[in-house]
Amino acid sequence: MPVLSYDTLRSHLSRVLLALGCPADEADVIADALASANVAGHDSHGLIRIEQYARMVQSGEIEPGTPTTIVRETPATALLDGGWNFGQVVAKRAIEMGIEKARACGVSTISVKNSNHLGRLGEYTVMAARAGMMCVATVNNHGRGNLVAPFGGSDGRLATNPISFACPGPERPVLVDITTSVVAEGKVRVLRNAGKSAPEGWLIDNQGHPSTDPADLYTDPRGAILPFGGAVAHKGFALSIMVDIMSGALSGAGCSYSGTCRLGNAMYFNLTDIEKFVPRDEFLEWVTTLKNHVQASPPAPGFSEILMPGEPEFRTEERRRRDGIEVDEGTWGQFLECARSLGVELSG
Ligand SMILES: NC(=O)c1ccc[n+]([C@@H]2O[C@H](COP(=O)([O-])OP(=O)(O)OC[C@H]3O[C@@H](n4cnc5c(N)ncnc54)[C@H](O)[C@@H]3O)[C@@H](O)[C@H]2O)c1
Repeated sequence: MPVLSYDTLRSHLSRVLLALGCPADEADVIADALASANVAGHDSHGLIRIEQYARMVQSGEIEPGTPTTIVRETPATALLDGGWNFGQVVAKRAIEMGIEKARACGVSTISVKNSNHLGRLGEYTVMAARAGMMCVATVNNHGRGNLVAPFGGSDGRLATNPISFACPGPERPVLVDITTSVVAEGKVRVLRNAGKSAPEGWLIDNQGHPSTDPADLYTDPRGAILPFGGAVAHKGFALSIMVDIMSGALSGAGCSYSGTCRLGNAMYFNLTDIEKFVPRDEFLEWVTTLKNHVQASPPAPGFSEILMPGEPEFRTEERRRRDGIEVDEGTWGQFLECARSLGVELSG
């Protein structure tokens, strides 16, 4: 299994993105975001995406280099049009604008339509947290991406509709970054590429029966992912509905439906400048108190410690920056083939 350093991975990604026609500064932004997803342990949103992005650029679905335009704006809000550029480029512009507006007004909301897939949503809420903000972000699939069954339903009707929250923490930001489905679609794709089974409770086949075969999500007609929550999946479903509305209805991009439309990520970012409410140190003291309080709970059988949300990613990042990032053979082969087809020869 190839093991790549962060810098090698980032440089490989950047070269392929340049070959796909991305301007150099945008190729760097996208490569950073994809390599950061791998380094944080979310391989479903890193290198594995390049093959899909290459197809989308070649079919005209992604339009590298297009500017992000302001459709409507007030001092605290903006509706942006991403011009169908890469979502990583559009989301970075949106969050930077959100930070600037929240600094000036105390709070800001940025809504975005006409953008492609932004990858890992937590990348952007953490950017806001590092700027002293509390941030909530959601995306839907711009009306498409019917992969997740509604609670009580037997076929895919919703996108995986993730939601992320982040805020400053004592050593690192607190980060919640979750799909409202049991699992992100990319994680099913990682298992399919690796020839592994999916855990029970993730999938149903195209007849609505429980399945552990990742291929069931890629057949025609296809199966579906379940909303998160297991026995209480009505909660995952309920959250998914609101994420779809916050992302798709507010931006005008559209909520999940049965028609055919362009696949992308409509985005919602809400930022609060903490210092407009309490001094940063006081806020951090309360977050630290909460962290210490929950982590003092004696670990239950089968657990060795209690982690704050975000700690698994930050720990994986420390390890992978030190020891390298393992890439499974299937994904690596797919990436090399994609690079070769664009005339990019890669080694190591
Ligand atoms: N752009 C898109 O359209 C899209 C769609 C779906 C998902 N995604 C991304 O997919 C990624 C994966 O989502 P997921 O739901 O599969 O992730 P996941 O199930 O791994 O959950 C991740 C979250 O749970 C926290 N967590 C994990 N283990 C923990 C523990 N033991 N204790 C405390 N907290 C813990 C993590 O810190 C993180 O906040 C996310 O980054 C999401 O943004 C993107």
